[in-house]
Amino acid sequence: MEIKEQVDIHKLPQHIAIIMDGNGRWAESQGEFRSFGHEMGVLSIKDVIEGCVEIGVKYLTVYAFSTENWNRPVEEVNALMELLVTTINNEAETLKQNKIRLNAIGNISSLPQKCIDELNETMRETSLNSNCTLTLALSYSAKWEITEAAKKIAAKVQNNELNLEAINEDTFAKELSTADMPDPELMIRTSGEHRISNFMLWQIAYTEFYFTDKLWPDFRKEDLFEAIVDYQKRERRFGKTSQQLN
Ligand code: FPP
Repeated sequence: MEIKEQVDIHKLPQHIAIIMDGNGRWAESQGEFRSFGHEMGVLSIKDVIEGCVEIGVKYLTVYAFSTENWNRPVEEVNALMELLVTTINNEAETLKQNKIRLNAIGNISSLPQKCIDELNETMRETSLNSNCTLTLALSYSAKWEITEAAKKIAAKVQNNELNLEAINEDTFAKELSTADMPDPELMIRTSGEHRISNFMLWQIAYTEFYFTDKLWPDFRKEDLFEAIVDYQKRERRFGKTSQQLN
């Protein structure tokens, strides 16, 4: 049976988060510049979002550029920013046709102005789409996001808009950039690395992890389906016992 047919569409994760890793190694193994790996990585994002739409996954969040990635050689950072602009430009029509909403999380104001403009335009044009939400984490780090949320809450308390006693997990989560989406049930990391690298630390409290040795440019929707099938075999207990669940 084909892997897609093995996916139980009644037990789909609503939200899948991906740490796309291995673009550089993939390119170097082909004797190419690292930026070629990022270009090929875009094809993987396209295929995976197509897979999400085919089976009905509502939220896909991809770690496209971390706060720490600013420390990479300036040529690579520039190539990634260029790629972001051209990709959004090239794909805006496809996003619209397939009713995909584009979203971004992270310190967006730190990006070059043309990235901000391109993102804002396409996010505005796709804001009412409801087939699937594709979120790009850009200049993102979870510790930054959590610190920003703490600052917003502190300001509300200071301005008497919020009582100290009223702060709880829900009020806190509402100040995160992911406030309008469910927490990911499944997180995938490619390239054989078993790390979280400062990604969605609050949101992954009960997320299932799936690691694969495949490098991101080799990852396709079939690999996504395989990860989902693996996830569906697991028992999510949320701290309870197996007997309690049955
Ligand atoms: C990790 O591979 C990947 C990144 C840091 C960037 C991911 C970006 C893309 C796939 C394309 C750009 C995104 C959009 C939305 C246009 P790595 O470079 O860390 O690989 P390595 O670990 O082998 O060095």
